[in-house]
Amino acid sequence: MKKLIAANWKMNFTLSEAREFVLQLLQKSQEHTEILEKAEFLICAPYVFLSALSEYSKQGVVSFGGQNCSVHDKGAYTGEISAGMLKDVGCSHVIVGHSERREYHKEDNILVNEKAKAVHQNGLSAIICVGESRKEREANLQEEVIERQLFESVPKNAIPENTIIAYEPVWAIGTGKTPSPEDAGQMHSFIRAFLTKNYSQGEKMRILYGGSMNSGNAEKLLTTPNIDGGLIGTASLKFEEFFGVAQCA
Ligand code: 13P
Repeated sequence: MKKLIAANWKMNFTLSEAREFVLQLLQKSQEHTEILEKAEFLICAPYVFLSALSEYSKQGVVSFGGQNCSVHDKGAYTGEISAGMLKDVGCSHVIVGHSERREYHKEDNILVNEKAKAVHQNGLSAIICVGESRKEREANLQEEVIERQLFESVPKNAIPENTIIAYEPVWAIGTGKTPSPEDAGQMHSFIRAFLTKNYSQGEKMRILYGGSMNSGNAEKLLTTPNIDGGLIGTASLKFEEFFGVAQCA
């Protein structure tokens, strides 16, 4: 399985900066075609850039995704964007249940599950995020917390073609801290066991790691069993850093 190197740009960049980044990615990938044998690129950009950027997906180097979507298909939901709209502008993926949505927009597992279903119904792939807080990790509750998040957030009919899990420990996001490769590996094996037991083809579902991944720590993380790629925030805002992560794959 190729490693999925996914950027989550969050609320950053202007459209021209975003274009510049994508053009650099296309050019660098042409110079290093060996990378594309081992890695796939995905960029989850702010909604308003997606229509313009997805034109660049035609070259088969990078796909595009949203960072959130509504549970609804259409209607009187001011300010919302549906999974169908994201598909319409050329997206293939949507992040749902990111910890920043869970924290700042009070999204819970049940809502995340409904969003993932909306993504599935539109033929896109849901990147469902889970992760424990620092307090939960300190109390050694991480497996319990992740099991519950998975159980409640991942629709029962999820399959590898429409679902990717992103393990993002909340205490590692934007902090420069990461779990040791052993701790990350332990959690990814735990998630793998859960998926294998509860989902058809769960053994093939991708599990990404997210949280302060960068070109310096990516090699160790990406060579850990059951880490099938990365969901990268801060390091995805500097082209060289992001490409450096892919080079580790
Ligand atoms: P950082 O890479 O900045 O820690 O963010 C990770 C993240 O939230 C990706 O979704």
